[in-house]
Amino acid sequence: MNEPQKSTNILKMDAQGLARAAAALQRGELVAFPTETVYGLGADATNDAAVASIFEAKGRPSFNPLIVHVPDIEAAWEHVQMTDMAYTLAETFWPGPLTMVLRRRPDCRLSLLVSAGLDTVAIRLPDHDDARQLMRLAKCPLAAPSANASGRLSPTSARHVHQTLAGRIHMILDGGDCPVGVESTVIDLSTGAPVLLRPGGLPVEDIEAVLGGTPLPRAMADETAPKSPGMMLSHYAPRLPVRLNADGPGIGEAYLAFGPGNDYPSLSQSGDLVEAAANLFRLLHRLDDPDRYSGIAVAPVPHEGLGLAINDRLERAAKDS
Ligand code: TXA
Ligand code: MG
Repeated sequence: MNEPQKSTNILKMDAQGLARAAAALQRGELVAFPTETVYGLGADATNDAAVASIFEAKGRPSFNPLIVHVPDIEAAWEHVQMTDMAYTLAETFWPGPLTMVLRRRPDCRLSLLVSAGLDTVAIRLPDHDDARQLMRLAKCPLAAPSANASGRLSPTSARHVHQTLAGRIHMILDGGDCPVGVESTVIDLSTGAPVLLRPGGLPVEDIEAVLGGTPLPRAMADETAPKSPGMMLSHYAPRLPVRLNADGPGIGEAYLAFGPGNDYPSLSQSGDLVEAAANLFRLLHRLDDPDRYSGIAVAPVPHEGLGLAINDRLERAAKDS
């Protein structure tokens, strides 16, 4: 994790604060903002570099998929594939503390990094007028994990956010205390039968009642038990074998470079790890083409800062091949 170096402004969440925050988000900056559950660390969810900087600011050792927040129900269906059950739950519980994991639409504009390389997105419509107004002004969906440094408690006030992220993010919008105080309930609707991934602000019983009274199977998957994202990450490993710490491609292999100096696609020509994270999933997807290549050779990536998360993901990809 880099040393703190930004001066973090705390602004009141009034018209002026919202306007400045929206402009900052459009520039790709990070802005912490309140929702009804906890404060989120927001970035333009369509901007790879902005999403990558979330992981950098939180100091996350690996790429967990992030929740994408939208300002209204219709906006959700621009990004994910609607199902009957998703429609019913959205109409019943949104806006509110329910997050649904659904498949990405083929034309989905969201950064692949919010999905951590999966073909699903966790999406939610917060019950917080100013948070929704922020998204309307910024004209983008917001990727937002809880606004705390990795491993620390989720923040329910601007002061909590400041305690662990001061110096690492551009701005904190102070909208007072979060009324719910625990994170949203996360359910996975991407695989047919719904599964509870994380209990949260919306009681599970309320969801079960709407789904006809049958109990929801549980697969705990919060940051403290990263089993579910881990399983899913390996599930979506590249089709081609992946070879790490390669100085160049072998015969038939694609090459994914890091740094300058050749005609191969590079995670970052300038050796910048945030840029490399922003490019990682897009380039892996592009090179994972069995019609053209026999494997993917990847240059060494420095094991510092976001390099830890990049190497974690690459090692998973290589292990499964
Ligand atoms: O209340 C909340 O949900 C807060 C506020 C800011 O909205 N956000 C939040 O985000 O708690 P985060 O990143 O701390 O938690 C996201 C949870 C994690 O457990 C993650 O593994 C899961 O959602 N998740 C996100 N995308 C997923 C996906 N595509 N598939 C499965 N699980 C996903
Ligand atoms: Mg969290």
